[in-house]
Amino acid sequence: MKYKLALIFVLLFLCSSCALGDDRTMIDVLPDTKPETVSPLASIDAEPETTAAPETTAAPETTAAPETTAAPETTAAPETTAAPETTVAPETTATPQTTDAPDSNRTSKGFPITVVDGVTYIDGTLIVNKTYGLPADYPQKSLTPEALNAYWQMKQDAAAAGYTIKSISDYRSYYDQRYIYNGYVARDGQAAADRYSARAGHSEHQSGLAIDLNSTAFDFDQTPEARWIAEHCAEYGFVIRYPKGKEEITGYMYEPWHIRYVGVELAEKLYLGNGEFMTLEEYFGISSVYAD
Ligand code: DAL
Ligand code: ZN
Repeated sequence: MKYKLALIFVLLFLCSSCALGDDRTMIDVLPDTKPETVSPLASIDAEPETTAAPETTAAPETTAAPETTAAPETTAAPETTAAPETTVAPETTATPQTTDAPDSNRTSKGFPITVVDGVTYIDGTLIVNKTYGLPADYPQKSLTPEALNAYWQMKQDAAAAGYTIKSISDYRSYYDQRYIYNGYVARDGQAAADRYSARAGHSEHQSGLAIDLNSTAFDFDQTPEARWIAEHCAEYGFVIRYPKGKEEITGYMYEPWHIRYVGVELAEKLYLGNGEFMTLEEYFGISSVYAD
């Protein structure tokens, strides 16, 4: 009898371990070709360590940070060594600021601002930047189905044209972002980190609408893939969210790898041709500035 009970406990333990392992696999690993049905929990292309839980010692992310604040065009991506847990980064409340608007319901360009459960929508588009944050408990846990399907279509069409596109980082939780950002602050200082990494609650990756593609080396924009992405991503509803020369407007240095899903209609309005984009801040008439 004792042996039977022990055997049952061992079997129960093994089953629960398997279930945990399967969940992690679903979240962290995806095949390089589109599955028949796309799980809403699935990450895309990302290698497991790019979505490592904050408490692990894995590399914080593959989104590159500059070693220094030197010109990004000539700076190679730095190593992504594990970031220590620190408490240097300030906690942010992710409370939307509405100082942009002449009144609390309109942007400076007259677009309507609505806030639902702490999430800001401008003319119906979810906005995340330094001014407008997301709550820590924002329920998104993966890329949105629209962003994921658009990504798969773009990847497939790029492949047909001879270009390889892959995701190296997509959905990141509030806590993933806090870990990543704190690591960069510990390494480079807060002022430098704020130029290339969002504070927790202020990253578009938490919205499930942003993907980092291929490489976070600053010379990625010199590659044929980057050119193809810049010239075609709007057809799929994506924009290059942090264009070159727009740091004062977006709050971030140029990131040729970071695309944001906004839907085809808006993406085509923002696309200026020749691989260039107007920013969401310019289009809607909003700021991207931390409150503190
Ligand atoms: N690198 C972008 C700004 C982020 O951290 O979301
Ligand atoms: Zn990104």
